[in-house]
Amino acid sequence: MEIRKIGVIGAGTMEGGIAQIAAQSGFEVIMEDVSEEYVRAGLEKIRERLEKRFREGKLENQEKERILSNIKITATLEDCKDADMIIEAVAEKEDTKKQIFKGLDNICSEDVVFATNTSSLSITRLANVTGRQERFAGMHFMNPAFIMKLVEVVRGLRTSDETISIVTGIAGKMGKISVIVNDSPGFISNRVLMPIINEAIYCLQNGVASRDSIDNIMKLGANHPMGPLELADFIGLDICLSILEVLHNELGDKYRPCPLLRKMVAGGKLGRKSREGFYEYTK
Ligand SMILES: NC(=O)c1ccc[n+]([C@@H]2O[C@H](COP(=O)([O-])OP(=O)(O)OC[C@H]3O[C@@H](n4cnc5c(N)ncnc54)[C@H](O)[C@@H]3O)[C@@H](O)[C@H]2O)c1
Repeated sequence: MEIRKIGVIGAGTMEGGIAQIAAQSGFEVIMEDVSEEYVRAGLEKIRERLEKRFREGKLENQEKERILSNIKITATLEDCKDADMIIEAVAEKEDTKKQIFKGLDNICSEDVVFATNTSSLSITRLANVTGRQERFAGMHFMNPAFIMKLVEVVRGLRTSDETISIVTGIAGKMGKISVIVNDSPGFISNRVLMPIINEAIYCLQNGVASRDSIDNIMKLGANHPMGPLELADFIGLDICLSILEVLHNELGDKYRPCPLLRKMVAGGKLGRKSREGFYEYTK
């Protein structure tokens, strides 16, 4: 089955990036979120990024318009019924994702592959609410999805080889490199990354060093392009907390989220997306 149209569910940080790279790569995209307002805001962010590249002379006007014309928006899940593939990237909440996949399972034809961009949740459990466990996989893009090369492709208990090959093929058409892993909490990327971020937050909370010292030590000493606190803001502190909660519940105490992280999320300091996290952002 040829995949021409991709339904992307959610219009936030990640799905906006995924919709953009899919449209750039020649796919038709239908992007869905809970309200017209959210999905329009998601499209506006894509437009701003493309306009910036146009102003910098990195993108032709005609190409910019072609990419934008490939993206349609909706606040109705049923509008994804004729998509050839689904990529879901809504908030990192298992019940929300399950509800969406149950709905999509009734709407989409049975040969449509479902992929989730979850950072930590069980692919096998999400697949289990659908009647298509074989045609269900993790497709974990990195942030920002239109720049980062990796897609961590996650094989659930019943994911078929054909599905893995479809998902890696689509990632390849988007210019990405797939690395395949088995279903396990946080896969590889977040199982290794989140303890670093959490420990950096503990160091800040316990007064071991200042924010800038912690980030500079990891940038200069471990050759990380961003410090862990800056990276946490970039990912979104709510997303970091959700991932750590999954890791803590499933893998044990060493992943216990730092109280300072909980406090910041409770206070609405979510990082770049709320313009305030460990750093402040004017734009
Ligand atoms: N932020 C990152 O760096 C990053 C990286 C890789 C993967 N992810 C994963 O991608 C997913 C989304 O993360 P994000 O950072 O884009 O979050 P976000 O908070 O920026 O956006 C989430 C979007 O989901 C929408 N949403 C919530 N419930 C919905 C529903 N029922 N139907 C449709 N849309 C709904 C929200 O309105 C919001 O626009 C999560 O699973 C996250 O773990 C995030």
